Amino acid sequence: MSFDLVLFGGTGDLTWRKLMPALFQAWRHGKLPGGGRILAVARDQRSDAEYRQYIRERFTAVDEAKQPTEAEFNQFAELLHYRRMDLAQPEHYAGLKQWLDARGADTVVVFLATSPHLFVPVCQQLGAAGINGENVRLVLEKPLGHDLASAQAINRAVRASFREEQALRIDHYLGKPAVQNLMALRFGNALFEPLWRRESIANIQITMAESIGVGTRGDFYDNTGALRDMVQNHALQLLTMIAMEPPSTSDADAIRDEKLKVLRSLKPFTPESVARDVVRGQYKAGTVDGKPVAGYLDEQKVPAGSACETFVALRTEVQNWRWAGVPFYLRTGKRLPARDAHIVVNFREVPHPIFPGTRRANKLVIKLQPEDGLELHLLAAKGGGASLNGQEILSPVSLDLDFDKAFPSERVGGYERLLLDAIAGRLNLFVRSDEQEQAWRWVEPILKAWADDPTGPRPYSAGSWGPAAASALVARDGGAWAEEL
Ligand code: BG6
Repeated sequence: MSFDLVLFGGTGDLTWRKLMPALFQAWRHGKLPGGGRILAVARDQRSDAEYRQYIRERFTAVDEAKQPTEAEFNQFAELLHYRRMDLAQPEHYAGLKQWLDARGADTVVVFLATSPHLFVPVCQQLGAAGINGENVRLVLEKPLGHDLASAQAINRAVRASFREEQALRIDHYLGKPAVQNLMALRFGNALFEPLWRRESIANIQITMAESIGVGTRGDFYDNTGALRDMVQNHALQLLTMIAMEPPSTSDADAIRDEKLKVLRSLKPFTPESVARDVVRGQYKAGTVDGKPVAGYLDEQKVPAGSACETFVALRTEVQNWRWAGVPFYLRTGKRLPARDAHIVVNFREVPHPIFPGTRRANKLVIKLQPEDGLELHLLAAKGGGASLNGQEILSPVSLDLDFDKAFPSERVGGYERLLLDAIAGRLNLFVRSDEQEQAWRWVEPILKAWADDPTGPRPYSAGSWGPAAASALVARDGGAWAEEL
């Protein structure tokens, strides 16, 4: 199968930091279909050779272990081409169309790795130039809108030129191996599904912690904030995968229909429930990994006195028969103690304890990063005669599954997986427009309540787990975040 992958934003950060290394890995793993061309599009004048050199130089900034040898890079680089385009000029799209038609690849994937304000005009130009035929797929990278209205405007522009099945909205969390394993865990095994409900589960916690700050993205971040950057998309996507009903098939739409139902069942926020159930924070100076780091307001390009949140913790519920009354806690933030993304499924305690001492409920931890794995926490008898008044004392133990060890050399990174899926036309791991809009509908009352609340975010020290109010949110229901146990 021949393909052309056109990368708008071909010299941008996303392209060289994430997409090119992922494409290189796919090529190195022999997964990229033969007969492919990768065309980077950007504003400056460059030859193919100059573009290849541009990417080569930037590869050194990506993960050491993935560094290509010179020979490998040169072979991979033969796939890379470059084209200067002014995205406002219709004739430049006509030129692109000619370039594509001259070969007539089976599949054309147009990836918009550009600033989102270009999505609407670029979609219009692509449609007008006829770069929207049956063999064309359009990939859109977040942020897909700033609120519901802007997301709808993008979707309208996409729909005017492309069918829904041609539009692939990326949420790179869905490409992470652990997230695919969530589907496998729930629907490939009979073990957990009977327990996967309110009768057995006390609460669910989703944590996406980052130790990095906003770095040089201060201007972008300050217009975005953690709610839009991580909760509206990544956190809610994880929540849907945890809470969805079993789809009747593994088809993309069967899965996405079920995810949409979860989003529609989320308890809507009111100004009162935002004040009670949502905590926003902003990091102050502190220490991360033993090193002193600046506070958010002292980061580059962050406006003085900004009220942008770098941390969000919230409590919600999925209002249906399976989940009624079960708290779902979501938490994400920058400058937390570690890069650590995981989901904890806390089961209920035994109904009638017969052992003395430790009473600890079972929990299943789905680890997304830094490593991906599963931990099942149990209580067991240690042996050795540990007892209280002659009765056995139980100790916590865990069953650990490390997927890197279980499947060495088979792991495929998030973008690699998603790019290969885009080329192959597998839509399961892409977000449908109705899911995306529903997610905006759900977060909007939070944005509105914050805009109306002059108190602003709560401070937390860099290197801590966020404001104390985040712990109180869970403690109120009698629980605790994983690290507090
Ligand atoms: C991106 C956000 O979507 O996800 C970033 O814009 C964030 O702010 C990143 O750092 C986190 O992704 P990962 O894969 O490193 O957890």
